[in-house]
Amino acid sequence: MNDSKLIEKINELKKQRNAVIIAHNYQRDEVQDIADFTGDSLGLSRKAAETDADVIVFCGVHFMAETASILSPGKTVLMPDINAGCPMADMITADQLRSLKKEHPEAHVLSYVNTSVEVKAETDICCTSSNALKIVEKLKDVEDIIFVPDKYLANYVSTKTGRRFITWNGYCPTHVKIQASDILRQKELHPGAKVIVHPECTPPVLELADAVLSTEGICRYAEESSAKEIIVGTETGVLHRLKKENPGKSFFPATEHATCPNMKLTTLEKVLWSLEKMQFEVRVPEAVSVKALNAVNRMVEIL
Ligand code: 13P
Ligand code: SF4
Repeated sequence: MNDSKLIEKINELKKQRNAVIIAHNYQRDEVQDIADFTGDSLGLSRKAAETDADVIVFCGVHFMAETASILSPGKTVLMPDINAGCPMADMITADQLRSLKKEHPEAHVLSYVNTSVEVKAETDICCTSSNALKIVEKLKDVEDIIFVPDKYLANYVSTKTGRRFITWNGYCPTHVKIQASDILRQKELHPGAKVIVHPECTPPVLELADAVLSTEGICRYAEESSAKEIIVGTETGVLHRLKKENPGKSFFPATEHATCPNMKLTTLEKVLWSLEKMQFEVRVPEAVSVKALNAVNRMVEIL
């Protein structure tokens, strides 16, 4: 089946099922193009919480669909490919976090949304890359903070706020592929360009950046800035939206190697099968869901 036939069928089924398709900014171009909403982790969570559709087809990775599911308990949340996980989220388990909490019984637990629902259930408050700084500022009266799992996001927030955290050795395998030498090479090729990177990048990369932003922040920056050329240090999927929304500007990936294989597992065919067979449903057991929801809601309420 060609793409236009697939899209036609997807749209028909979407109506029949009263479904909405939401896609992360790292999804394949064609998946982003059929989505009703494309955004970053925070934007997608918000969208999932406010939609009045019966079915949410979540094109992203597992922790994002789980977050959507706990925020919209009455809705059916489907993932077109259930194997689309996030290796960073898998770097810490609930047992490991419980042990860390035992070592630091007084500490407040701040978890990046890139965590499993079981880890969120052990968490006081969540954050995303777009609100981590603000959340930490809100926690100014808290003495000790355990910040898991991304050591690079924690380090970035630490340099910005002056706060020290109890951290975990987690990181994003895709963002660590972006090297300072990649940025320097791109800067040499495009001397007038601004450099925008994601906070999951390593410190030497962040040092070379004009701005450090979430994927949605990167899209906003591109639109609002007068810069005509921008070097982008994050997963390459975001370039599709950047180019589409800013036809007069040029965008250069720091490196073509920064692709997240899990994000690319979702295809148009799988979106269609997902709607046809109502697969693969992401359901979170209620006991875990209630606890995890507290941590997510605290984040959503603050910002
Ligand atoms: P954003 O919240 O910036 O979309 O990032 C999510 C993510 O997984 C980055 O690798
Ligand atoms: Fe996880 Fe990194 Fe992929 Fe984002 S880009 S989903 S953090 S592995």
